[in-house]
Amino acid sequence: MSKPSKTSPAKPSALPGDPSHEEAVSRIVRVNQAGEYGAKRIYEGQLAVLGGTDAEPILREMLDQELEHLERFDQELVDRKVRPTALQPLWHFAGFALGAGTALLGKDAAMACTVAVEEVIDEHYAAQTEELGDSEPGLKTTIEQFRADEQHHRDVGLNEGAENAPAYPVLTGAIKAGSRLAIWLSTRV
Ligand SMILES: [Fe+2]
Ligand SMILES: [Fe+2]
Repeated sequence: MSKPSKTSPAKPSALPGDPSHEEAVSRIVRVNQAGEYGAKRIYEGQLAVLGGTDAEPILREMLDQELEHLERFDQELVDRKVRPTALQPLWHFAGFALGAGTALLGKDAAMACTVAVEEVIDEHYAAQTEELGDSEPGLKTTIEQFRADEQHHRDVGLNEGAENAPAYPVLTGAIKAGSRLAIWLSTRV
């Protein structure tokens, strides 16, 4: 039986100066390992402040998923021989400071931090699956699965009172801007 013909448009060919496919995949793995590391540090910072409160089980569940995500991208770095971001020490402190700092403002602000960060990660992972197209199906499936987890974290944040945080639009706007900058830097440095 002949295969049904596909009418999806051809992908545009690479432009001069575009990173090679391998370099593009290396960048994806590098930035995702950095992002998952930052997420782990954010939740650790929040737990340092909110451990022992009713927020602890919620934060611990999200941290556990971030640890699974990180473990997977740590392994991808090794398997693909990709160097990690040089900025990991910065994300070690910045992630923890962001988590602890928002938690010090209260549980609602901690949840607002989660909503802001996870919305940016959701966009970021969506862009990556688009970029990968039909190449790297295994990596793409991983990103899609993790993206669903991050959307769940965002929803948890919203259900747990994120929008009651003081100055919610300003707070989330600042955290989103910082997260986008961190992504931009970790893709390149
Ligand atoms: Fe994650
Ligand atoms: Fe997450």
